[in-house]
Amino acid sequence: MSPPVVTTVAEVRAAVDAARADHLPVSLVPTMGALHEGHAALIRAGTGFVVVSIFVNPTQFGPKEDFAKYPRTLDADRAICAAAGASLIFAPSVDEMYPSNSFTSVEVGTLGDLLCGASRPGHFRGVCTVVLKLFNIVGPDTAHFGAKDYQQARIIGQMVRDLNVPVEVRVEPTVREPDGLALSSRNRYLNAPERAAAPAIYRALQAAHMRAHAGEVDAARLESALHAELSAIPGARVDYARVVDAYTLQPLARLDRPAVAAVAVFVGTTRLIDNVTI
Ligand code: PAF
Repeated sequence: MSPPVVTTVAEVRAAVDAARADHLPVSLVPTMGALHEGHAALIRAGTGFVVVSIFVNPTQFGPKEDFAKYPRTLDADRAICAAAGASLIFAPSVDEMYPSNSFTSVEVGTLGDLLCGASRPGHFRGVCTVVLKLFNIVGPDTAHFGAKDYQQARIIGQMVRDLNVPVEVRVEPTVREPDGLALSSRNRYLNAPERAAAPAIYRALQAAHMRAHAGEVDAARLESALHAELSAIPGARVDYARVVDAYTLQPLARLDRPAVAAVAVFVGTTRLIDNVTI
C-alpha cells in the first residue's frame, strides 16, 4: 500500500507525534525524488516510522543548473516508497519550505568550498539548510544518505556534530548498475552512447584503488592517472578528479591516511559524480 503523502510541516509533525506515541523510532530519508534502487536501499535501512522527503530544493541549484528540468516523478516515487516500506512521504511545496520571509541559511565553511563546492558555489549551503530544516521538521532518530555523495555525507555529518543536532547520520553504500555505473536520478538524462560510456567512470576509480593498493603512495600521480583515464571516455569532460584526505577533503601529498578518490565528470551535458575510499 502506498504511504500517505503529506505536504505541510504541521501534517508531518502530527504523523511523527503519533508514531512516537506508539513508541516507534523515526527515520528520515531526504530525497529530491526521481527515486531509484539506491533510494530504496536507504528507505529499507530506516527503522520504525520511515519518513521519505521528496523536495527538489531550489537553493542547492546554481542559476545555470537543471532545477527546472530536474525529473519530478511523484507517482513512480510513491510506488518505490511503498515497495521499500516507507511509512510517510513528505512532499512540500517551495513556499512551504521557504516562506517568502525566510532569511537564514547554514554557513558550511571550507568543506563546502572544495570538490563539488568549487564547481557549484553555494550548493552545500543549500543542501545543509534544507537538510537541517528537514531534521527540525521531522525530528528523526536516524537519517540516511548515500555514499555516492561522499562530500555531502561528510558535510552533513560535520554539521550535525558542529550544531549539536540530535540525529544519527548513517551513510549507506552506493548502489550500482551491473556494469558499475552508480545509480543516480540524473542517469536518465544520458542518451544511449553516453549511457554506454558512463561505466568507465567507475572503472577508472577502481583502477586508482588498485594502484593505491599495489603500493602507489603519491597522490598527485594517482590523480593524474585517474584524470587521464576519465578524459579518455568518449564524450566526457572531467570537472574534477581528486585524491583527498577522507576527513578534511584537503589535497594530500602522500597516501598515508584514509583517502577518497572523488570525481565529477560531464558525460555529454550530464554531470555525474562517484568516488572510492582508499
Ligand atoms: O542528495 C540529495 O538528493 C539532496 O542533496 C538532499 C540531501 C535530499 C537535499 O536536498
